[in-house]
Amino acid sequence: MNSDTRLLELEDLRKWFEIRRGFLSSRVNYVKAVDGVTFSLEEGKAVSLVGESGSGKTTLGKTILRLYEPNGGRILFQGKDITHTKVKDLKWYRRMASLVQQDPFGAFASHFTVFRALEEPLLIHNTVKSREERAERVFKALEEVRLTPVEDFAYKYPHMLSGGQLQRVAIARAIILEPRLIVADEPVSMLDASVRIEILTLLRRLQERLRLGVIYITHDLATTRFFSESALIMYAGHVMEKASTREVLRNPLHPYTKALLIATPDPNPQNRSRFKEVPPGEPPALVDPPKNCRFSPRCPRAFDKCFKEEPPEFEAAPGHWVKCWLYERS
Ligand SMILES: Nc1ncnc2c1ncn2[C@@H]1O[C@H](COP(=O)(O)OP(=O)(O)OP(=O)(O)O)[C@@H](O)[C@H]1O
Ligand SMILES: [Mg+2]
Repeated sequence: MNSDTRLLELEDLRKWFEIRRGFLSSRVNYVKAVDGVTFSLEEGKAVSLVGESGSGKTTLGKTILRLYEPNGGRILFQGKDITHTKVKDLKWYRRMASLVQQDPFGAFASHFTVFRALEEPLLIHNTVKSREERAERVFKALEEVRLTPVEDFAYKYPHMLSGGQLQRVAIARAIILEPRLIVADEPVSMLDASVRIEILTLLRRLQERLRLGVIYITHDLATTRFFSESALIMYAGHVMEKASTREVLRNPLHPYTKALLIATPDPNPQNRSRFKEVPPGEPPALVDPPKNCRFSPRCPRAFDKCFKEEPPEFEAAPGHWVKCWLYERS
């Protein structure tokens, strides 16, 4: 990867939440929600972040956006270290990186029209001075997300819109400050199945047209095929596998990724029979987890070492990384 085109780099990033057993207890435990994540994203490319509930996807997304401060590692954005930049100095980054959340129904103040909701970031960041120019930007953003004719939508209130339309407004709000990075956290999981593909296609089109970096968070490995260049498979705060999306889907290596693929019905019965090992059980508790492979209690292929030592990431094929002892070369 050419360093000039590198948008985001994470180096051994950690976000641990501190918890205390009792109000007066001095004993501190940590929920290790993101525990040593390394990857980079090029300008204008999309990466899928896939994993079961509780694997740390949202925490990673919010840490990247610096809505949480990391406990360790580094975040570089366009080469600039923002790991511990103070909140008051993060205003430019708030413009450059934005979030689309899962729930479009809770994303807007009920007394704001669509116009007002989209104007808000422009007012906060004071990037566009005149009212005419702000209106122009709002209408342009509505056009980008295909809410046309724009005048019909601009003066509506949130309760007058469907979930799909609201999510389009949320995307318009996310792009209005012309960011370079969008974190889309399960952007379609609360929408009717009929509009999911439309919204994902819209995001993908915007990503390509505006040359946005996109982090697409999902449970659904199947949708990543069309919406990202690369994929990161997360489990219990760790990245278990990372490679191009094509490679992960065509040649999944980690037993966990294989299990995720079984959970995703494949229309081709020949592919279905490839993975018979559905591991039962739940992800482990992340409060001070043991130093072994976090998937080992559920893994059908686990052996001695897996229960004792945490594997590093092995490069099983060029650009295809797996955090699994099965891929250790002796
Ligand atoms: N503010 C917090 N304080 C303590 N623990 C937290 C906090 N936020 C998240 N966690 C814990 O961190 C772990 C990862 O949570 P996270 O929400 O990032 O998972 P996720 O992969 O986004 O899950 P889902 O698919 O359900 O959205 C969970 O064990 C969760 O309980
Ligand atoms: Mg989440």
